[in-house]
Amino acid sequence: MKKWLILIYTTLLLTACLPREEAAVEKPLPEPPPVKSAEEIKIGFSMDTLKEERWTKDLELFKEAAEQHGAEVVLEIADGDDVKQVWQTEKMISEGIDVLVVVPHNAESMAAIVERAHDAGIKVLSYDRLVRNAEVDLYVSYDNEQVGILQAQAMTKLVPKGKYVYLGGAETDYNAHLIKQGVFSVLKPYIESGEITVVFNQWTKDWLPQYAKENMEAALQANNDDIDAVIAGNDATAGGAIDALQANGLAGKIPVAGQDADLLGVRRIVEGTQTVTMYKSIDDLSQKAVELAIKLAIGEEIQEDLKINNGKINVPSVLLSPVLVDESTIRETVIADGFHLEKEVYAP
Ligand code: GAL
Repeated sequence: MKKWLILIYTTLLLTACLPREEAAVEKPLPEPPPVKSAEEIKIGFSMDTLKEERWTKDLELFKEAAEQHGAEVVLEIADGDDVKQVWQTEKMISEGIDVLVVVPHNAESMAAIVERAHDAGIKVLSYDRLVRNAEVDLYVSYDNEQVGILQAQAMTKLVPKGKYVYLGGAETDYNAHLIKQGVFSVLKPYIESGEITVVFNQWTKDWLPQYAKENMEAALQANNDDIDAVIAGNDATAGGAIDALQANGLAGKIPVAGQDADLLGVRRIVEGTQTVTMYKSIDDLSQKAVELAIKLAIGEEIQEDLKINNGKINVPSVLLSPVLVDESTIRETVIADGFHLEKEVYAP
């Protein structure tokens, strides 16, 4: 009996000395940040460049669309400089934005910024150009593969046989890869049947017309001016190619395809030195991007059209459709939409 008592007593004593386990008190979860309204949203808009005509439109129409929603836009332009674009976006993130909208100069270099933004609880929308190898929240653009498909369909209809020159866009821009994919998906059967030969195929650094001109000069020289069609990444590079054709007395004799429907491109179509371009309403794109950027910032559900793999994830994407423009459709497209004025396009 005595033994038992000692045992119980000792146990009680021991347990009394043991550190007490604090009853697991449920810590209240931190309050979710209050849901902001569109009027309180600050959009960080990081652009690569204003070098091409369209980007000035993107800037103006994006700001206009944001104003319509009452949202504020913090804008930075990187002038084609990757280090500057990273630094500028870092600054925007640290100064407090609710969502980051980015047009990357270099699809790969901006991946680090996506992670940085997420660390700060900020979602990222890739505008027109896709950031590669990063967990981008949303991609809003035109169907760039379709741009290439429409360019090549228009060219092969006019020139089903012969020697083609391909002047791609900037290799750092994933759009240039998507457009090229579209072009070569149409050219493939012609190439395989031997009807079409692509005698020159080069990217154009930074989409600069002077490089496109140099490449076109090299292609003409290498083929003794015996070229039948040119497909260029956009109107700026098409313009460079046409300068080279002009210098060789070939402008207007060799069909040339471009993109963007910028004023000079459309005027070249009227004068006959360029054949087609692709019209992408910047109004539609900027409206859509602002609407969805605000939804991202507020945490509202977004219905994507499809997912596009950017090397890391399948990015939810919303793609608009480009429209082919040739001499017969200028009025019903770019003029009807007020993208260009009749008098600007047809002025002598
Ligand atoms: C692309 C864009 C084109 C073009 C180009 C040059 O990403 O989709 O419209 O103009 O950049 O800036």
